[in-house]
Amino acid sequence: MVRFLVTGARGGLARVLIERLRAPGLSLEPALTGPVEVIALGREDLDIARHEEVERAFVEHRPEVVLNTAGLTQVDLCESYQWEAYLVNRDGAEHLGRACGRSNAALVYFSTDLVFDGSKRAPYTEEDPPNPLSVYGDTKLAGELIVMKSAPRHLILRTGWLYGQPGRHFLKAVQEGVKEGEVLFGYDDHISQPTHVHDFVDALFFLLSRGAGGTYHVANAGEATQFRALRQAADYLPQKNVEVQPVHHQNDGRQAIRPRYSVLACGKLERAGFKMRPWEEALRAYGETARRS
Ligand SMILES: NC(=O)c1ccc[n+]([C@@H]2O[C@H](COP(=O)([O-])OP(=O)(O)OC[C@H]3O[C@@H](n4cnc5c(N)ncnc54)[C@H](OP(=O)(O)O)[C@@H]3O)[C@@H](O)[C@H]2O)c1
Repeated sequence: MVRFLVTGARGGLARVLIERLRAPGLSLEPALTGPVEVIALGREDLDIARHEEVERAFVEHRPEVVLNTAGLTQVDLCESYQWEAYLVNRDGAEHLGRACGRSNAALVYFSTDLVFDGSKRAPYTEEDPPNPLSVYGDTKLAGELIVMKSAPRHLILRTGWLYGQPGRHFLKAVQEGVKEGEVLFGYDDHISQPTHVHDFVDALFFLLSRGAGGTYHVANAGEATQFRALRQAADYLPQKNVEVQPVHHQNDGRQAIRPRYSVLACGKLERAGFKMRPWEEALRAYGETARRS
């Protein structure tokens, strides 16, 4: 039996992870043997920013693998709520890291392409020095560093724009459609990678089954602006007549500054034996599933 603890269990990625972990026939062998038990705790059951709650959860549940999806994830909101963002994304990670370190549990931390500043203008590898431009990116980098320090058994996955999970996600606006006469705006001044959440989870499960540790970039191959990806999604998804127009981010203090380019090179993952498919292919497959349902 392998006991997984999922934090932030009501969030989008968490809900996909919980469903996938509970799917019959899942095997994470050879590294993790036996059936999987999932303890899913939402913020109301476990506030990771509260050290004593984390300690109590470890005593009660004795997890062997912790998937820390809990986070303050709204990038622009983090600019106005810096204190809370550091409290959850950094301090919460530290509380979990220390508890994992003491109990020899593995800690998985989900991070972001926004740890980079975009000045490289070529896909970023895990060895490239981060330099976040936003509060969100900075809190996630701080979380990464604290996880590395406190949890000897850790896995840090950086990704781009996830879609396909329940709740808020990158393509939600296209899926919801627009009222007649309205248009949808997509940012054309930030290049990243739309990433199918199930492809991301497949890569995570692969790495867990290999007992991998350290930092990995995990995103669908290729690159796109949000504008281009939304336009493509509007073609593939069943919603009709969604017109997408380009718009720039506003550097007016209300929005976080994004790097112009934050594409992640996934060569390390590939060398480990897992290849991510191109984002267009993943998006087409997602659209086909949506048409059938
Ligand atoms: N989605 C993406 O494109 C993307 C890309 C890169 C990295 N990530 C990372 O992946 C992880 C999951 O993202 P997501 O898209 O699933 O985000 P999400 O839907 O916003 O889920 C985050 C969850 O964390 C919970 N939470 C907030 N503060 C908490 C606390 N102190 N203790 C416990 N739970 C808390 C939230 O609860 P409330 O709703 O009650 O606040 C929410 O349910 C995050 O760490 C994020 O930074 C996501």
